[in-house]
Amino acid sequence: MDLGLNQSAAFVAGASSGLGRAIAKQLLMEGCRVAICSRSQGRVDMARDWLLSETNVAPDQVLAIACDVTQESQIISALDKAESTFGHLNLLVTNAGGPPTGQIDDLSSDAWRDAIELNLMSTINLSRHGLPALKRARERGDHASILMITSLSAKQPIPSLYLSNVSRAGVQGFAKSLSEEVGAVGITVNTILPGYTRTDRLSHLSESLNAQTGRAIEEIEAGWAANSALKRIGTEEEFASASAFLLSNRATFITGVALVVDGGAVKSLL
Ligand SMILES: NC(=O)c1ccc[n+]([C@@H]2O[C@H](COP(=O)([O-])OP(=O)(O)OC[C@H]3O[C@@H](n4cnc5c(N)ncnc54)[C@H](OP(=O)(O)O)[C@@H]3O)[C@@H](O)[C@H]2O)c1
Repeated sequence: MDLGLNQSAAFVAGASSGLGRAIAKQLLMEGCRVAICSRSQGRVDMARDWLLSETNVAPDQVLAIACDVTQESQIISALDKAESTFGHLNLLVTNAGGPPTGQIDDLSSDAWRDAIELNLMSTINLSRHGLPALKRARERGDHASILMITSLSAKQPIPSLYLSNVSRAGVQGFAKSLSEEVGAVGITVNTILPGYTRTDRLSHLSESLNAQTGRAIEEIEAGWAANSALKRIGTEEEFASASAFLLSNRATFITGVALVVDGGAVKSLL
């Protein structure tokens, strides 16, 4: 199926590695132009080189921008740069790293504030400042879509990941509210909830749980796999394929949904 993305221009946040970079790769392979950002110009430049070598697209299809998504002024200038370089911007992926683990007594109020800034406020600010460009794209007849990466913790809280459980729930409320408002101008807003997927974040998570509990990393990861219906950890490519579909011109009647891509780890009916 042709996803109809070859006239599209996307901004993918948190894309020097992991899920964000995998989405950027998938979008490039579909013919989209993609701006990627992360906190470090060096890391995002390396990701751009990797994307160019993996996809063989022309160098002007990928723009690498240093932008810390906890800094509103950096978001504004990064989005501006992407839109002015590509001439338009119709797709936005909100993403950042995950917050630390910890139980209630481990987490200071600063840790709570940092997590809300990293995972909730960044999503709100990327969306607020990205919307004018997406509305302009709609006016010229493009489809326009926002996809927010959250976590299966938004549906099924994960023990020791309080900071994720709480900040992702906020994103779900924001996404649903925004989908209602901007649906009137034809912009779709969805969230995608990764389950345990092989990335740097997953390795940090298992290392952190190993340090806290003494359980072997292999045992921790085997436990995650065993709890899913498919009995394995997911791949970045599997996550990116579902993301590209939700962003595509083939998903224009899907909005306000929370798609779990987790191999069947969440056990609720809906
Ligand atoms: N992988 C999983 O199994 C899984 C499961 C559930 C939820 N998630 C969530 O999905 C999201 C992506 O996960 P991942 O596995 O791809 O993580 P990852 O491999 O750690 O990648 C995170 C990306 O975000 C960037 N980043 C971090 N803080 C940033 C900031 N303040 N501003 C801009 N960019 C920032 C990092 O780049 P720099 O370091 O270069 O800035 C990196 O490119 C995270 O929120 C994670 O918690 C992942």
